Amino acid sequence: MPRGKFITLEGGEGVGKTTNLAFIENYLKLHNIPVSVTREPGGTALAEKIRKLLLDKDSEAISEHAELLMVFAARAQHIKHVIEPTLANGTWVLCDRFTDATYAYQGGGRNMKNSTIEWLENLVQGILRPDLTLLLDAPVEIGLERAKLRSNLDRFESEKINFFEQVRRAYLLQAELHPNRIKVIKANQALIDVENELINVIGNFLR
Ligand code: TMP
Repeated sequence: MPRGKFITLEGGEGVGKTTNLAFIENYLKLHNIPVSVTREPGGTALAEKIRKLLLDKDSEAISEHAELLMVFAARAQHIKHVIEPTLANGTWVLCDRFTDATYAYQGGGRNMKNSTIEWLENLVQGILRPDLTLLLDAPVEIGLERAKLRSNLDRFESEKINFFEQVRRAYLLQAELHPNRIKVIKANQALIDVENELINVIGNFLR
């Protein structure tokens, strides 16, 4: 049984991750690829508990280091109990956010050093890296308008616009650093055009 592929979907707030995640899942299934969808932070019972703590905007102020370590604690559980066994079993994993989000939010947004994140990445992931990352990119104001239409804003969504500008910049920098793995998809266009770009990129990947 060949090992499954690990695909991640990334992007700032309100760029349409949920809609496009379902589209990608269906596209892979149409191609007879067994795929399991999961998310970060989360994906196991404990990791979902950590997610709740991270998103709770009524908690005591969470230090940058605590936030970073919580993200990686959740990730360690997710990798050990879900991602690795699934890939080993030959099933593909489609994950809503992964470590590029840490470079974007904790690195870009919270100004944590990339070398610190990299150290934790190596510790927690060993050699595990996504095989393909789809980065949905849109101007920050557009995404935030969409995010605000949803229910109550969580702890991250309640940040100021400058935070999201830094997140977006850090995501795009990740894409520049890893051009073979990370494909930037323009998210502020008609859904059908976003889907066509996704088909194009995933089609190339499958070939
Ligand atoms: P979601 O709203 O896309 O489900 O993600 C939850 C929040 O968690 C989102 O605002 C980004 C944040 N996050 C980080 O800050 N660092 C990370 O490593 C991950 C995976 C998510």
